[in-house]
Amino acid sequence: MKDFLIAPSILSADFARLGEDVERVLAAGADVVHFDVMDNHYVPNLTFGAPICKALRDYGITAPIDVHLMVKPVDRIIPDFAKAGANMITFHAEASEHIDRSLQLIKEHGCQAGLVFNPATPLHHLDHVMDKLDMILLMSVNPGFGGQSFIPETLNKLREVRRRIDESGRDIRLEIDGGVKVDNIREIAEAGADMFVAGSAIFGQPDYKAVIDEMRAELSK
Ligand code: DX5
Ligand code: ZN
Repeated sequence: MKDFLIAPSILSADFARLGEDVERVLAAGADVVHFDVMDNHYVPNLTFGAPICKALRDYGITAPIDVHLMVKPVDRIIPDFAKAGANMITFHAEASEHIDRSLQLIKEHGCQAGLVFNPATPLHHLDHVMDKLDMILLMSVNPGFGGQSFIPETLNKLREVRRRIDESGRDIRLEIDGGVKVDNIREIAEAGADMFVAGSAIFGQPDYKAVIDEMRAELSK
């Protein structure tokens, strides 16, 4: 496993040329495709569902796909994404009526499972499910939109989660999502993150490789 994973959020990609754009960002050195599913109910925006995930697989995308569900209810849609080719599925603690059940459902469908925390969501939801987690995603913006600024308090939360993961002795990815850029990625890594979602910072620039190379350079300092 690579120490640090860079996961471009295709929320900021060119939807009219999605396959090509995802191919380009992977050729530029991205590790994982971050797939933001919004339902205009749990979050105030609407994006794409499992058919688009399947379309990317049919187009020939073989990289891991990390599905970030910002939907309520959660469970109904999990099998659809697993069948559509998702490798990792995460959902928000508040959006699931039965967190343990949702995690089990993801794993039964052969995907890695993770729990997402909004900036103001307390971490106690981790208490009894650490053994079922492959990843923990901390939102560093309020969910719903790309291009927002990183909320600095998230750094303290990252340190706290990193401590809990290390204490557990389990191999759990710590993913950060929102406002990640070349100039803050190192500080975020130092606080404990090892998987970095970046949408506007990558897709907002003409040269994806230049941005990803700069991010890796910051991470290897
Ligand atoms: C927000 C999404 C993020 C978002 C990140 O709800 O979960 O993945 O697209 O976008 P940037 O990197 O532009 O903050
Ligand atoms: Zn996301």
